[in-house]
Amino acid sequence: MFVNSCNVVVLISGNGSNLQALIDQSENRGYRVAGVVCNDPAAFGLQRAAKAGVPAVIVEHRDFPDRETFDHALLEAIDAFAPDLIALAGFMRILGPAFVQEQAGRILNIHPSLLPKYTGMHTHRRVLEAGEREHGVSIHFVNEELDGGPIVARSRIAVREEDDEESLTGRVHRLEHDLYPRVTGWFAAGRLRLRDDGVYLDGNRLPATGIEEATPPGI
Ligand code: GAR
Repeated sequence: MFVNSCNVVVLISGNGSNLQALIDQSENRGYRVAGVVCNDPAAFGLQRAAKAGVPAVIVEHRDFPDRETFDHALLEAIDAFAPDLIALAGFMRILGPAFVQEQAGRILNIHPSLLPKYTGMHTHRRVLEAGEREHGVSIHFVNEELDGGPIVARSRIAVREEDDEESLTGRVHRLEHDLYPRVTGWFAAGRLRLRDDGVYLDGNRLPATGIEEATPPGI
């Protein structure tokens, strides 16, 4: 029997549709979702994990007096799953610098914009308000800056005349569900690495905006 050797722990705060995509495509992409860590007991993603038989742990930030103690508890919960990779998938807490430095090169995040543009919240609304003609998704290694670490990959879509926040959110989600499992598979296969001078895929250093991945048809 083939045993996936790359253990991934997925951190979520809410709906967990990216978690679902990561679980659904894990076998094809050659990694294993070993566990889920969540900071909100009401997150729908916890139901997805339960349905898929993936163990989940809740570490509620409200239970901790400060970021350091929360980060410590979070790391303990993560470590219990012995992960090779930590994948942030809609995890809406900022991780402290000590955590991020300790795990450098082992944490990925997905963000719904063409980074470095539109870090932070409400990206779809802000893209529409700014009259952008393009929008998309980025996956990056996590560092101390919010949505600011070295970019691995991006996929883009054209903003349509008739797009509103809801339609744009839906289309970007479909892009995310395609791209995140793919990039996770690269990491699992040892193809993707963060080094001091940048992100490497198959031994080649990527440009600062990462690799451009084609948009799947129909999005
Ligand atoms: C996703 O769109 C993800 O890119 C975004 O939260 C959403 C979570 O959806 N993350 C960020 O904005 C991080 N800055 P999901 O819970 O359905 O996967």
